[in-house]
Amino acid sequence: MKTVTLQQYEALCDEVWHHNRLYFQESKPEISDDAYDELVRRLEAIEEAHPEWISDTSPTRRLGERPLEGFKEVEHSQVMLSLEKAFSQDELQDFHKRMQKLLETSSITYCGELKFDGLAISVKYEKGRFVQAVTRGDGRVGSDVTQNLKTLKTLPLRLNSTDVPDVLEVRGEVFLPKAAFEKMNQERAEQDLPLWANPRNAAAGSLKLLDPKEVAKRADLSVVFYGIAGLSKELPKSQYEVHQFLASLGLMTPETFLKPYGNFISIAKLHSVQDIMDYADRVARERSELPFAIDGVVIKLDNLTAFEMLGTTGKHPRGAVAYKFSAEQAWTYVNDIVVQVGRTGVLTPVAELEPVQLAGSCISRATLHNFDEVERKDIRPKDYVCIEKGGDVIPKVVAVDRHKRSGHTHAVKAPEHCPSCHTPVVKDPHEVAWRCPNVKGCPEQILRKLIHFASKAGLEIEHLGDKVMEQLVQKGFVKRFSDIFRLDSAMLSQLDGFKDKSIKNLLASIEKAKKTTFARLIMALGIRYVGKQMADELARTTKSLEKLMAMSVDELLEVPGIGEKVAHSLVEYCSDEENRQELLALECLGVTCKVEEVHYDTSHPFYNKTIVLTGTLSSMGRGEATARVQAKGARTADTVSKKVDFVIVGDDPGSKLEKAKKLGVRIVYEPDFLEMI
Ligand code: IVH
Repeated sequence: MKTVTLQQYEALCDEVWHHNRLYFQESKPEISDDAYDELVRRLEAIEEAHPEWISDTSPTRRLGERPLEGFKEVEHSQVMLSLEKAFSQDELQDFHKRMQKLLETSSITYCGELKFDGLAISVKYEKGRFVQAVTRGDGRVGSDVTQNLKTLKTLPLRLNSTDVPDVLEVRGEVFLPKAAFEKMNQERAEQDLPLWANPRNAAAGSLKLLDPKEVAKRADLSVVFYGIAGLSKELPKSQYEVHQFLASLGLMTPETFLKPYGNFISIAKLHSVQDIMDYADRVARERSELPFAIDGVVIKLDNLTAFEMLGTTGKHPRGAVAYKFSAEQAWTYVNDIVVQVGRTGVLTPVAELEPVQLAGSCISRATLHNFDEVERKDIRPKDYVCIEKGGDVIPKVVAVDRHKRSGHTHAVKAPEHCPSCHTPVVKDPHEVAWRCPNVKGCPEQILRKLIHFASKAGLEIEHLGDKVMEQLVQKGFVKRFSDIFRLDSAMLSQLDGFKDKSIKNLLASIEKAKKTTFARLIMALGIRYVGKQMADELARTTKSLEKLMAMSVDELLEVPGIGEKVAHSLVEYCSDEENRQELLALECLGVTCKVEEVHYDTSHPFYNKTIVLTGTLSSMGRGEATARVQAKGARTADTVSKKVDFVIVGDDPGSKLEKAKKLGVRIVYEPDFLEMI
């Protein structure tokens, strides 16, 4: 750790307090949860190195929140602690080892639970009647929100059992389901009110309203329970049974809440770090589809006697840990909106952002897709926007907070001229994209085509990324694909940072790329409308470049999955003299490609069939489902037509299912689909 001064430490304490106040008191955080966690970790590291500096007012010694103003204060019968956090497999391993050591056994069962991103609540029932609800507050004293909780439809006012305990105090989480959050923000936007940044803040803002009638209007505020703080009879033996016990009394648990939404994982019994990782991976995969926000999983000792025996550190119970996921969304400012020219000439508006941490990386750009979308969402330079990252896709802007907009910004429109070559731009009335028609002369289009050619999607030439290609083009060494195979060490030595070893490496990977597959070569050429699936299909059916180049539109239309648009685009490409010369040059320079023979099980029901996927599958993402049907020799399509053989249906399928029913296309639901693959 770098040397820090006492002043720096105190400044960091103040900073964390400032963010605590924004988060807990005002429900208006200015930084992401990840950035906050990072600050706290820095603080903890300093305190470990300098225990003599720690004062009672350090944010690490206090539990954060203070009671809400305007509510009665109530002391908790049992302190409401927070959970220790783990951010990596190594940290989970440390936790597991610690448990093994403390409990003097190698075999431990954990109960895995979802970590709700809401507000902790303690709820008391006496003789089966709801009597009190208290927020966590500072952990010792919270705010009495009994009247507000009474308005929640998911909270029973009477327990549903013939054998009710005299006293039951349960712990859980108040939250706003995602759909209700979106609806609430939509209504706020219509009324020109500031938007909530996320469901947690919206839930906090709703819970602390002083007028229960106002809370009742936010009828979708919900509650689930996962723990017991007091019970006048014998406690269940395991955490797993706690969930069953609470559900048996008619209380909402995460499992009962999720049931109507399909096959999501909720609690699980886990026996090793590998089990924990597998569970966390599955939850992380399902996270975006869950009806509520979570920010990780909680791993608890299942044996409650052991859990009690290990006690607490004062801040955390020893027998539990929260394994946190990184944020999927973040808010930041748009510094500018620029126009990017793609390899096929499509003009894409891109937001240049004030850099922000999201899902483990620093994000400074987000695609705005097209100008219709920019107009529809009304995104402008200097706006405060919410960005989202799902899977490995480029982040996108999902919301704009218009209240943070100053009066001097202008709506962005498509440019009249290409920003790279100044050719007037054009738009096909059937498409949303504006494009630069200067396909052969636009410097940016040429550069993007070359980058694509060498990229992972193309010939996969290692060490030849965007930056290197930019230099090669700038120096005039590469103007067309074939020039890549004419590069020599004298040319490469003129590039920034290129020495003997890097020159040798790049030349070796260029040499290696000469032996490629036919599908890769077709894909690398970047022919308009020809994506990976199409390239695979063309390679499989035509088998050679000569044959592909000689095919007519009618012949191409015979190839499964190829429609008019693709057929015309291919014929146009192959009949262009310059393109033909270039393909010949590649061959002369030693580029050879073989057709990969793939052996499918021809008796499989998906073999050689066209499949449409619709709705959300609970067992896998769309990318995986596509890959798996393709591995059986099927093609996927986006729209349902008579040519489609199967429609695979997940949750919330929408209009494609209706269309399939109308056309009599075979419908396969998820359980059967899983069986078939
Ligand atoms: S157990 C000693 N289980 O996370 C803490 N907490 O950092 C006992 N939370 O304040 C809480 N989901 O608001 C527990 N399944 C879960 C949870 C959960 C969300 C929240 C809770 C608590 C915070 C702890």
